[in-house]
Amino acid sequence: MQDTIVIALGGSLLSSDESDKINLWKIDFVNLINSVLDSGVKIFIVVGGGKLARKNIAKAKNDGIVDEFQLDLIGINATRENARDVIKSFENVQNLNKNVPKSIDDVLISFGNYDLTIMGGTVPGHTTDTVAIKLAKEINSKLVVIATNVSHVYTGDPREDRNATPIEKLSLKELGELSGVGKPIQPGSSFAVDPVGVSLAIDHNLPLVILNGHDVENLRKAIYGEPFNGTIVYGDD
Ligand code: UTP
Repeated sequence: MQDTIVIALGGSLLSSDESDKINLWKIDFVNLINSVLDSGVKIFIVVGGGKLARKNIAKAKNDGIVDEFQLDLIGINATRENARDVIKSFENVQNLNKNVPKSIDDVLISFGNYDLTIMGGTVPGHTTDTVAIKLAKEINSKLVVIATNVSHVYTGDPREDRNATPIEKLSLKELGELSGVGKPIQPGSSFAVDPVGVSLAIDHNLPLVILNGHDVENLRKAIYGEPFNGTIVYGDD
């Protein structure tokens, strides 16, 4: 197993109309993270905004805010609120960073002090996927797991393209082409992986794992290097 792991935890995993399901998921997720910590691995979780971000951004738009920078800030606040919520589930962890770092620099400054760091967004212009990828680059982590609410990267948008099929393995360059690297993103909109982050991963040759975070056992397999259900994005050797 790697000695540091970065997990981008999609905000959609934290909220659902079925609160019982979320509570059960949380128990499994917390147990998994605790057992990985017990084996001496440092973990960084970057939490997404999910429903809360979408709701707050929609409300702001309704109130007449059109500036994307402002809307992104609202999204970032939602991600940090979710991160604070996730921190509450890990209060038993000895070397837990109880504060939500606001930047990658904040994380780097306190890197040696904590085994578990949980944060949200940083600056406008990208999503928490990008924060996770940036962080992985800075701390030299070789495992970035994008835990989202889809099982794989698909050949097309499965909501629009009935022939879209899941991809088990592809190169960073191929992911870049599929995810539309270079195209602008809309505040609050969701992609399988943020193209800004994909572009960064390509620049730094950072492999990625994309999977459905609802399935904690599958997440465990990915973390422990066992065969899992999801997409492996490989770099150049
Ligand atoms: P998310 O990372 O949650 O984006 O950030 P998402 O695509 O909705 O991902 P899921 O659904 O949680 O998986 C929510 C919004 O917050 C702003 C962006 O507007 C983003 O769409 N944001 C977030 C930033 O501007 N900068 C950040 O570092 C993080």
